[in-house]
Order: sequence, then structure tokens, then C-alpha cells
Amino acid sequence: MDGGFVIETRDLRKMYGPHLALDDVDVQIPQGAIGILGPNGAGKSTFFKCILGLITTTSGDGRVLGYDIKTEGDLIRSRIGYMPEYDSLDPDLNAIDQVRYAGELLGMSPSAAMQRAHEVLEYVGLRDQRYRKIESFSTGMKQATKLACAIVHDPEILICDEPTNGLDQRSREFMLKTLRRTVDEGGGTVLMSSHVMDDVQEVCDRVVMIHQGNIVVNRPISDLANQIEKEVEAVIWGGATKMEEALISHGLKVRRMGRVMRVTIEDENTIEQIISIAAKSEVQIRELREYEPDLEDIFLLIMDKLGARVKGTSELMTSEHTGGDRSV
Ligand SMILES: Nc1ncnc2c1ncn2[C@@H]1O[C@H](COP(=O)(O)OP(=O)(O)OP(=O)(O)O)[C@@H](O)[C@H]1O
Ligand SMILES: [Mg+2]
Repeated sequence: MDGGFVIETRDLRKMYGPHLALDDVDVQIPQGAIGILGPNGAGKSTFFKCILGLITTTSGDGRVLGYDIKTEGDLIRSRIGYMPEYDSLDPDLNAIDQVRYAGELLGMSPSAAMQRAHEVLEYVGLRDQRYRKIESFSTGMKQATKLACAIVHDPEILICDEPTNGLDQRSREFMLKTLRRTVDEGGGTVLMSSHVMDDVQEVCDRVVMIHQGNIVVNRPISDLANQIEKEVEAVIWGGATKMEEALISHGLKVRRMGRVMRVTIEDENTIEQIISIAAKSEVQIRELREYEPDLEDIFLLIMDKLGARVKGTSELMTSEHTGGDRSV
């Protein structure tokens, strides 16, 4: 594989009828834990399905672990674990049979699949529930079973489409820890899509952001803050609205959250300018510090720059994500 990338695409295009879902995507993804971010309909699941060779691509090329996504889907799927966003489990099976069956579908012998099913169910925390029917499982247990099915064949790459969807805090933490452990101990690659930035921040070293079928960011999380303009945060006492208006009338860019103003640093005079505007407006600045954006904020700022009207990542969660998409 060129340059050590585990996934590479060139001009990868996917149309669903007249609808362009992936717009000539060029991407190179190295080993590690990668968060795939993007608003609803951005193309995250489509990207996963294309690189898994599960759906036909319209044009362009892609290689996963050196295999061609158009002609070597079977080989790719034998080396990748896929945890889909939809409910892929059979409620009538017990967990052990479900996972064993997943292993057999991936080409494992019945005895090897059975042995691994026990191991991976223990790994995902379902040792004591492995003989229970899936219909009696909570969402967290179902997600853990989906993860067990995805790792039964010890894949080099694990693709998880919204793995924490619908999970309570405890199950969520366990899922994230398990994913991180899979990368740390196995030296493999995890690609994880999520709408929850905290989840991505906890597990991933790198993010790929997709917007309207285009990859708009592909870089280490530690490097992301450099993608956006730096801001200074001023906490205002009395007359926040007056202060906001004054800052804007002086040509400064302001994001206001109640008494907190985040002002884009235009040049070395910006801070002095803010202090002088406050004095003239007769408002008090309680605190003034350089703002360190978290991943959620960086995501929103980048989406804003791209003209995507995403106000908060919580609104990206829609009810259709609790089940639904069986569009493969
Ligand atoms: N089977 C399909 N037939 C037609 N259009 C589809 C199909 N699957 C996806 N699309 C469309 O392609 C675009 C990308 O969809 P995709 O499911 O990849 O987005 P996503 O980023 O995974 O979104 P979400 O966050 O909602 O899961 C959307 O506009 C979607 O409506
Ligand atoms: Mg999706």
C-alpha cells in the first residue's frame, strides 16, 4: 500500500439515481483511530459502504489494505469488521449463535467461529448474557453484540457507523473504551462515525469531515484548531448587548453566548480594541482570555464556513437514526 495508507480513494463518486452522494472523493487514511464527522446526509454511511465494496460506485477508484473496492469486496470484507448504523441482528437468535453465524458468513470454520464468539462476547462485556435471546437485549447490549459480530474474525480495520447511538452513559463509556482498546492493543484501525463530538474526541486521533459528499477536513485532532481563526473570549458584566453591537460596529466578528463574547483575533491590536470599546461603552470586562475551542466548536465553525446551517450537533440526531436505513 502506497505511503502506508490503509484506505485510499481517487475521484470516488457515488450517485443514487440523480442524487450525488459522494462527489469525487480523494482521501488517504492512515492507520489509527479516525472519526468520520458530518451533518445528516453528508455521505458518511455511503463512504463506508463504498469502501466495504457493499454498493457499486459510480466512478473513481478505491483501495482498502491494497485491495480494489470494485473487484475485491470479498477480500476486503474478510479483513474489515463492519458495525452498521441499522439494527443488523436477528432477535430470535441468542448472542452466541448470532456472533458465531457472523463468523461463519465471513468464512470461518464453525468450530473457529464458535470459539471466537465466546472470546469476543466476553471482550464486549456480554459473557453472562451470551445464551440469552437478542430480543431481550437493551440497546447497549445490542450495540455490543453488533461490535462482537464485527470483530469476530479479528479484522485489521473496524468500521463503526454511529456506535454510541442510543446508549446510556455507562454503555457509551464501555463502547468507547472498547474501541480505543482495539486500536491500542491490536494496532489496527478504527473508523467511527458519530454526531457526538465528545465520543470522537475520546477515541480518535484524527478526523475526516464530510460535507455534501466532499471531504473537507482530514487531519489529526491536535492540528484542527489551526484550521479556524483564533478567538479571544471576553466575559462582559452589564450591557452585553450594547457591547456586542459596539464590537460589530467596529468591524469585529463576534459570537455571543449570553455574557460571553468570542471575538475573532484579526491582528495584534484586537485585544486593545476590545478593551477600548468596553471602556467607551461603559461595560466591564470580567475576564479576557484566548479561547481554546473544543472539537464540537471546531466542527460547528468549519460547517458554518461551508454554509451548512448546523446550529448544534445535538440537532444532527434525528429519530430515523434509531433504526431505519436498510438502504444497502
Ligand atoms: N439507498 C439510497 N437511495 C437514495 N439516496 C440515498 C440512499 N442512501 C443514501 N442516500 C442519500 O445520499 C446522501 C448521503 O447519505 P448517507 O446515508 O451516506 O449520509 P450520512 O452522512 O450517513 O447521514 P446520517 O448522519 O443521516 O447517517 C443523503 O442525501 C441520502 O439521502
Ligand atoms: Mg449514516
